[in-house]
Amino acid sequence: MQTAPTSRYGATAIAFHWLLALAILVSLGVGFYMADLPFSPQRLRLFNWHKWAGITILALSAARLLWRLAHRPPELPAAVLAAMPPWQHHAHRATHALLYALFFAVPLSGWAYSSAAGFPIVWFGVLPLPDWVPVDKDLADALLKPLHHLLAFALATLVALHVAATLKHQFVDRDGLFWRIWPRRMQR
Ligand code: HEM
Ligand code: HEM
Repeated sequence: MQTAPTSRYGATAIAFHWLLALAILVSLGVGFYMADLPFSPQRLRLFNWHKWAGITILALSAARLLWRLAHRPPELPAAVLAAMPPWQHHAHRATHALLYALFFAVPLSGWAYSSAAGFPIVWFGVLPLPDWVPVDKDLADALLKPLHHLLAFALATLVALHVAATLKHQFVDRDGLFWRIWPRRMQR
């Protein structure tokens, strides 16, 4: 069931947004950093933490998507909508949809790569996860590793675009869109 639209994101949407924004930014940073490290216990540790964090992001994204399907986001304010050329409105919606798609595609490609490379995942060393791709080194190195890299790069690019758009709305248009997703208590 959909809820009535309001002018702000709700508390749950705000919590999901900032928790996942932080987790995804850290995972991107750790991912690009660790991939270039020489073999060492430190690299192994980072690989494990990266995988565990990535699986956690996948699970939280599933919860977020289910919640989002039942709770429509707030409509853009009429004045903002009127000032926006139609392409910008489409870009706004398409960026959010693509971000959601990548919240699944990036961790799933990482999991598939790990399975194909022959490294099963035990989440935080406690919960063994199933391998859903058979061990196949060629598939892992020729397809799944570059795919994970490409999807992670696409995610990083979209996030940069998303943050740049937010900054433009905040400091050029000064339309206050940012406050729609900022916890109200901290609003100035
Ligand atoms: C949203 C979650 C995730 C993000 C943002 C992310 C991002 C990245 C990035 C940026 C890299 C470096 C790519 C490169 O330069 O080649 C990377 C590498 C890697 N990721 Fe992820 N990843 C995520 C989830 C996962 C998951 C769930 C797994 C496995 C369960 C995983 C496994 C790996 C592995 C094994 C590598 C190293 C590839 C190599 O150099 O051998 N990732 N990831
Ligand atoms: C770090 C600075 C960030 C800022 C200032 C920011 C700001 C915003 C704002 C203002 C909105 C609401 C747009 C509207 O009013 O329609 C929004 C929505 C959204 N942001 Fe961010 N964001 C940031 C980081 C991120 C990151 C890192 C991600 C993903 C990895 C992300 C993903 C999303 C998504 C998916 C939505 C749409 C939420 C929904 O409709 O369910 N954001 N963000």
